Amino acid sequence: MWYAPETEFAKVEDPWRVGARLAVVHAITTGVLSLDDSCMGPERTVACELIFPVTASPPTLAPLSLGNVHLGFPVVQAALSGYSDYPMRAIARRLGAPYAINEVMLDQFLVQVKDTHKNRHFLFIGEEEHPVGGQLMGAEPEQFSAGAVRLVQAGYDVIDINFGCPVKKVLGRCRGGYHLSQPEVAIEIMQRTREAVPPEIPVTVKLRRGIDDSEESRDNFYRIIDAAFDSGLAAATVHGRTVKQRYVGPSRWEFLRELKQHLGSRTLLGSGDLFSAEDCLNMLQQTGVDGVTVARGAIGNPWIFRQCRALCDGLPSPPPPSLHEQREVIREHYMLAETIYSEKRCGILMRKFGIKYSAMHPQHLAVRDAFARVHGREEWEAVLATWYAEDEPGQYPAREVHIGNNGCETGAK
Ligand SMILES: Cc1cc2nc3c(=O)[nH]c(=O)nc-3n(C[C@H](O)[C@H](O)[C@H](O)COP(=O)(O)O)c2cc1C
Repeated sequence: MWYAPETEFAKVEDPWRVGARLAVVHAITTGVLSLDDSCMGPERTVACELIFPVTASPPTLAPLSLGNVHLGFPVVQAALSGYSDYPMRAIARRLGAPYAINEVMLDQFLVQVKDTHKNRHFLFIGEEEHPVGGQLMGAEPEQFSAGAVRLVQAGYDVIDINFGCPVKKVLGRCRGGYHLSQPEVAIEIMQRTREAVPPEIPVTVKLRRGIDDSEESRDNFYRIIDAAFDSGLAAATVHGRTVKQRYVGPSRWEFLRELKQHLGSRTLLGSGDLFSAEDCLNMLQQTGVDGVTVARGAIGNPWIFRQCRALCDGLPSPPPPSLHEQREVIREHYMLAETIYSEKRCGILMRKFGIKYSAMHPQHLAVRDAFARVHGREEWEAVLATWYAEDEPGQYPAREVHIGNNGCETGAK
């Protein structure tokens, strides 16, 4: 029964039942299900199972396409500023993500960035990672479309417009999520970008569900998203939080469900609070979105994509990767980073990934501290030699590991 204590759940082996429990927990926390504490036991179970019936078999998921770009599996790697560079995307792709999006770039930066060795990591695309998405944000429609053209020249297969970033500095410069408060400008940006990008390259948009919880914000959101598809955009990704909300409180999946009903056959991807494979499948099933974009949940846990695929194939949830499996990927990630960053930059930059990977190690805190002190390749290898020598079972990261990582720090670019 879904309301049994945690210990009893640990014994339940059917992932679909565990998934349903998470669905109910999510429903309650997001307010989809409003059952007060006096409603316990069987009544609550019946109510929950009516809303999210427990299924014995995996769902049949429709393949995902962004316009003419066919992705197939509908669980993709989200854009993540400071993270979703070529090495992270390549690892995600190798472990089952059919598509990944580069971190957001400023349009101004894109039009003036020189193609030097030092800069190559910004726009670098690996041969093996097509199709890959490039994302941009900016304030002025004209400059925005010029930035989009630069992404096309760099080889990106899909151009994604960012109307979601909630960082104060970004909003102060009328970029990112700010556009949700000015539909005319937002619509002009989408139209001009669509016109500037060659027709065979899909243009998509990423939005939050509004600036805030007001009626006006909701109306603006619906105006913008309808105009997106009317302007020829191929798909929209919606994060179920408002700009004002930043990362406080849950992503409202109920909003995504209503929106998908409104959009009908137009392609919608969902975002927000996807920290496990079960979360991803629950979002797909509960909201009806065509795809989901894994963000914080994939940092340090790229195996989430492999796990999603297993669940979709009706297989039992795979065990967390063992320490030797982890070691192989962590080493590979560093090697990929060395191909695009200088030696000095690489060591410092990889620390944050090491810290996230450490959450899958049974001695999480000690390993985290070891990764936090890395300066270069030798120290990285020393951490692996010390902590990953024995092939012990790993663990999936606790949800709390992801919560609190709340930035979309785009200032540098
Ligand atoms: C560190 C960080 C960087 C982010 N960078 C971007 C970005 O560059 N572009 C974007 O569209 N969203 C960005 N996001 C938002 C995520 O793609 C995603 O919509 C959001 O984190 C909600 O998903 P989650 O709750 O599953 O993490 C970022 C989020 C975080 C935490």
